[in-house]
Amino acid sequence: MQRMKLNTPAGSTEIVVGEHLWSDLKSLGQEAVLLVDEHVLCQHHDIFETFRTITVPSGEQYKTLQTVESIYRELVKLEADRSTMLVGVGGGLATDVAGFVASTYLRGVPFGFISTTLLGQVDASIGGKNGVNLDGYKNMVGNFRQPSFVWCDLSLLSTLANREYVSGIAEVIKYGAIWDVQFMEYLEKHMELLLTQEIEVLEHVVSVSAAIKVDVVEKDEKESDLRRILNFGHTMGHAIERHQKVLHGEAVGMGMIMAAQLSNNLGLLPSAEVDRLQQIVSSAGLPVEMRLDPDELFLNIRKDKKKSGEFVHFVLLDGPGSTVIKPIALTELKSMIHDLC
Ligand SMILES: NC(=O)c1ccc[n+]([C@@H]2O[C@H](COP(=O)([O-])OP(=O)(O)OC[C@H]3O[C@@H](n4cnc5c(N)ncnc54)[C@H](O)[C@@H]3O)[C@@H](O)[C@H]2O)c1
Repeated sequence: MQRMKLNTPAGSTEIVVGEHLWSDLKSLGQEAVLLVDEHVLCQHHDIFETFRTITVPSGEQYKTLQTVESIYRELVKLEADRSTMLVGVGGGLATDVAGFVASTYLRGVPFGFISTTLLGQVDASIGGKNGVNLDGYKNMVGNFRQPSFVWCDLSLLSTLANREYVSGIAEVIKYGAIWDVQFMEYLEKHMELLLTQEIEVLEHVVSVSAAIKVDVVEKDEKESDLRRILNFGHTMGHAIERHQKVLHGEAVGMGMIMAAQLSNNLGLLPSAEVDRLQQIVSSAGLPVEMRLDPDELFLNIRKDKKKSGEFVHFVLLDGPGSTVIKPIALTELKSMIHDLC
């Protein structure tokens, strides 16, 4: 088991990575209310049966203010008050919703997460960004508030669909690419064991990834500067996600390769490093080729909420484990995307 702490001016979070952490739920007391992802509740019903639970529906189409409102109503029925601990249990969707509910119900109640997807454990549950979608636009309404704890329960990953698990590996590879060359080497050597959820490898990978996210968030909680590097592969990735039926990590894997190619085209990164990234993404079983329409991709990047004016701030690589953020004018980007597709 690994423990670490995330400290920011807004609050601190205890993060634990290990197996069967759910067995500690009783330490929170019977008054706690669990907001549990519907599939997690169904697959692990016995874990939660002695607790007060509210189901969080699965699927991005339910990550809405309507879902938030219906959870508020259930909390009122349960007579949840200012001292009630809310625990979000699930992947990034359930924890984003639970964090938002907990930060707004009665102007804020204590909350923590049990993260049950790989993407949630290495990324979404850590860092205090909570929120929901609006009219199909992702995470348009939300806030920053740190949970008091995040338990990354590795044993719960066994029921996660393999495609969802592999999708989470894209975010793991991202940390190696942007931050830690040794971690990238470790992933290159241990990918097969990671794919089979070998426990020592899994614990190491989740702990190192979580520690990198903690490091970045502690230096820049509100994403004014350094935290932007976590968007490596995401500008293209989000644009791909909007016009292809792929999972987030699948789009991010492809987006990272395209960002690396762009870095190479701009003379920042040797082509051997682009090949290396492509190789590791492929070894995880993530797609490395997609039929993409460059005009569609460009239109979707224009809609990106992280675009500022006529520029997109692209996270590029200028070496293994090293990033540079470059503003690229939309006028230039169009032809660059045509070159990449
Ligand atoms: N807050 C942040 O910083 C942040 C960062 C990245 C992503 N996100 C958000 O995270 C969400 C994606 O998260 P995700 O990839 O974890 O997807 P998810 O939460 O939608 O879960 C994926 C699927 O797996 C199921 N599931 C979850 N855990 C399971 C388990 N242990 N066993 C069986 N089934 C299980 C869910 O019901 C769902 O069908 C998006 O809404 C995204 O916007 C937030």
